[in-house]
Amino acid sequence: MQELDRIWSMLRERNTVVPSIESLFDSDPQRGPRHTRQLGELRIDFSRHPLDDQSWSLLLQLAESRDLTQGIERLLAGDKVNISEGRAALHTALRSPSIAGRTGVSADIEAARARMYDFARALRSGTWQGATGESITDVVNIGIGGSDLGPRLVVQAMSGGDGPRLHFLSNIDGAAVHQITQSLNPATTLFCITSKSFGTRETLTNARTAAAWLGESLGLEQSQLAAHFVAVSANVQRAAEFGIAPDRVLPMWDWVGGRYSLWSAVGFPIAVALGPDRFDQLLQGAELVDVHFGSTELTDNIPVLMGLLGIWHRNVAGIPGYCVVPYDERLTRLPNYLQQLDMESLGKSVDVSGQPLAQPSGTLCWGGTGTDGQHAFFQWLHQGTDPMPVEFIAARTPDHPHQEHHRQLLANLFGQATALMQGRSLEQTRAKLLDDGKSPQQAELLAPHSTFPGNRPSTIIMLERLTASALGSLLALYEHRVFVQSWVWNLNAYDQWGVELGKTLANRVEDQMQGDRSQPTEPSLTHWLDYVESGA
Ligand code: F6P
Repeated sequence: MQELDRIWSMLRERNTVVPSIESLFDSDPQRGPRHTRQLGELRIDFSRHPLDDQSWSLLLQLAESRDLTQGIERLLAGDKVNISEGRAALHTALRSPSIAGRTGVSADIEAARARMYDFARALRSGTWQGATGESITDVVNIGIGGSDLGPRLVVQAMSGGDGPRLHFLSNIDGAAVHQITQSLNPATTLFCITSKSFGTRETLTNARTAAAWLGESLGLEQSQLAAHFVAVSANVQRAAEFGIAPDRVLPMWDWVGGRYSLWSAVGFPIAVALGPDRFDQLLQGAELVDVHFGSTELTDNIPVLMGLLGIWHRNVAGIPGYCVVPYDERLTRLPNYLQQLDMESLGKSVDVSGQPLAQPSGTLCWGGTGTDGQHAFFQWLHQGTDPMPVEFIAARTPDHPHQEHHRQLLANLFGQATALMQGRSLEQTRAKLLDDGKSPQQAELLAPHSTFPGNRPSTIIMLERLTASALGSLLALYEHRVFVQSWVWNLNAYDQWGVELGKTLANRVEDQMQGDRSQPTEPSLTHWLDYVESGA
């Protein structure tokens, strides 16, 4: 403990020593390449952060004194790192045959994947027919959180899927199911009900509404609609009780966390949209990062470096968030996906033994695509009072013929990263305004408004090209970074008890809204329930 305290206090001291990020480049022109790493199809530039070699070395000491290497070994060996639920977190086994072999889950994974691929092939080839004998043209995934965000992100990112059209229904809001069903032909639509627990209210309500819509539209009994449903669940029993034939249920397991599950049968919509070969490529991209994570020294271990950088910003610089900005329209959903991965995993206040955490943990993860964000929230990033690290993500090679667009896109990314780092001082701004023809008085007045503090950190992650394997690598990188932070903070990244209370209360309020006032209504809610009721 004393050793840890010593490292933390030296880290905090370091934070006061480095004058600016730019000064680090001044003293080392090779800083850019020196702090840029290549991992498969990803290139990651850590140079635009206010860390000199000593700061990095202290962060690595922190990792060593937390015995991070042992932590990584335990994760990848299938130890029950999810302490509060007594489970392993074996999402890596889903993409790494050697981990699956070592942990004894190969047979389960292979059997489930073979069935998933059979289903996907039947749908893609048109041999899967609905109740009226027509081929399925549209597949709707009904699921929420980890049963939605991953497949939705990948399907959108890999646009140009050549299978049936994919749709995603997650929100309980009836507007969502209404909108989707209005655009579909029931005879050629298949619903995939994805829920690890098969107990999530949103998903079950949407699934029931979808089933009723199918039955009414086709004039068929529910028992005649089996060909229009598939389920993905760790609870086959509940799926069967819901009415899905067991041979239409693709299994997953309690050793896969929802937000880590796109590699399992939860990825069924991906396999349908892209085909088994590209699903395999996604897995291979992730496996490459798993192998790197499990076999590389901490000093060169990229998820470790990313995690430690996050620790620096959270605990040393005291910044409680980071902003993810993909300069790629296909990755619009990435910030949402990372939000669940990071915030549901790390938004905890107690350590693995239930004691208050020694350090603040968990960070706000937010963002949006560039260049759109430049015309919205970038003002805050550049001139707001709070610094916020930005993670820029882009593909080096585009998949469209519009080279000029791509050049401008990347120029914007680099320009923004540089502007955040360099800023513009009051004197520089004043001189520029005079150069632009402003009078000395005008320049004096305008200069403070056009000044940029600079010294704002950012990371650039560039993919060779947005392929399935590069995307797999990118997502695995973020997963492991979350693990690194959880280990240093000594918290459990694989439970999510914080979502329970609101769910329980929503159920109680719903009963009250249906007229069961046997439970006393919350005084703070009574007037709202009366108001809603009066409009019903
Ligand atoms: O409410 C949170 C949560 O449990 C997430 O962790 C999970 O991804 C989501 O709900 C959906 O759960 P399920 O797959 O069991 O329907």
